[in-house]
Amino acid sequence: MDRAVLLKIIEAGIHAPSGENCQPWRFEVRGDGELALYNIPERDDSLYSWGQRASYFAHGALLENMHIAALHYGFDARFVLFPEGHESDRVALIQFTGREPKAEPLFESIFKRTTNRKPYKKVDITDETKKWLTDGVADDGVKIILTTDKGAIKTVANAAASNERVIFENKLMHGFFFNHINWTKQEDDEKSIGFYIDTLELPPPVKVLFKLFRRWPVMRVLGVVGFPRFVALGNGQLYASGSLVGAIVIDDETPEHFVQAGMTAQRIWLNTTKLGLSFQPLAGLIYLFLRVKHGDLAAFEHRHIHLMQKGYTSMQKALGVENKTIAFMFRIGDGGEPTARATRLDINRFVGV
Ligand SMILES: Cc1cc2nc3c(=O)[nH]c(=O)nc-3n(C[C@H](O)[C@H](O)[C@H](O)COP(=O)(O)O)c2cc1C
Repeated sequence: MDRAVLLKIIEAGIHAPSGENCQPWRFEVRGDGELALYNIPERDDSLYSWGQRASYFAHGALLENMHIAALHYGFDARFVLFPEGHESDRVALIQFTGREPKAEPLFESIFKRTTNRKPYKKVDITDETKKWLTDGVADDGVKIILTTDKGAIKTVANAAASNERVIFENKLMHGFFFNHINWTKQEDDEKSIGFYIDTLELPPPVKVLFKLFRRWPVMRVLGVVGFPRFVALGNGQLYASGSLVGAIVIDDETPEHFVQAGMTAQRIWLNTTKLGLSFQPLAGLIYLFLRVKHGDLAAFEHRHIHLMQKGYTSMQKALGVENKTIAFMFRIGDGGEPTARATRLDINRFVGV
C-alpha cells in the first residue's frame, strides 16, 4: 500500500473525537498493508478514565473513520482487537487489502464532524430521520436508544449536567478541567490537546468570569453559596434544548464493547453531520460513574457519589435500560455553526515507522 494513501487514512482516523481532545493514540506501520494501533494511557489520566474505557471508546471512533476512509481509497480494513490481550497497549491490528474504490457517502463528514455545545433549536425528528441516523450501523452487540420523549430528554439532560456540579465542587476535578483549557487560539494550536475555550460556547459574561473560576479558593467560596448547583441547573436546560437524546448501551464492560460502542457512536455522529444537524456528547457523568461503580471512590465525597448514583439510575430508568451499562450519551438538534473547532496533533507525531 502506498504510504501517502496510508497517511491519508490515518489522517481521517485522527479526526475522531476523544475525551478532552486527548487523542490517546499512536500507530506503527508494519509493512505488508498492516498497521498497529496503540493506546497512550498517560494521555488520559483523569477521573473519567476508569480502566481506559473512555480512550477505548475514542479508539472505536477512530477505527470507524479509518474503515470509511479505507473504502474511499479502495481498501478493505480488517481489525483484530486487542491481539495481545487487555494488558497490552496494542488496541488493534489493522490489515488493509485492495478492492475497488467505493463512493463513501460519509467520507466528507469525517472532516466536518465536530462537538457543538451551543443551545439547539428544536427540529422535527421523524422515524425516517432516526432511520437515517442509524444508517450503516453494524449489528455488533451494542444497543442504540434514540428518544424524542420530552420527559426522558429532561431527565437525561439534568443528570448529565450533574457532572459540572462535581467539576466545580471537587478540587481534583476542578484542577483537571481548568488545566485542560486552552485560553487562546495560539495556546490551542501549540498544545493541540485539551479544550480551546471558544469551543465551550460560554456566554460572554461567563467567559470573562471563567478566568476567576479557575482559582480553587474562589470556586470553594462560590461552592458554599450553591453556585455549582446553579451551573448544573443552567446546563441541564441547555442540554434539554436537544430534540433527541441518544444512548449506546452495552451488556458488559469489556474493552471490546467500549471500542464497539465508539464505532457505533461515530457512525451515528457522522450520519448526524451529513444530515446537517448538531451533536454533543453528554458522557462525563457516565464515565465518572463507571469509576464509582467499580468501587474506586477515594477521590469523591459521599454527597457526590450519591449524586452520581442517582443521576445514572435516573438515566437508565428514563431510557428503559435498567441494569445495563450506558457507554455513551448524546443530544442532537440544530445548533447552527459552532464558534470554534478543536485542533489535532500533527499527524507525524502519531506514526512511528
Ligand atoms: C468518551 C468521550 C466522552 C465525551 N464527553 C463529553 C461530554 O460529556 N461533554 C462534551 O461537551 N463533550 C464530550 N466529548 C467530546 C470531546 O470533548 C471532543 O470530542 C474533543 O474535545 C474533540 O472535539 P471534536 O469532537 O469537536 O473534534 C466526549 C468525547 C468522548 C470521546
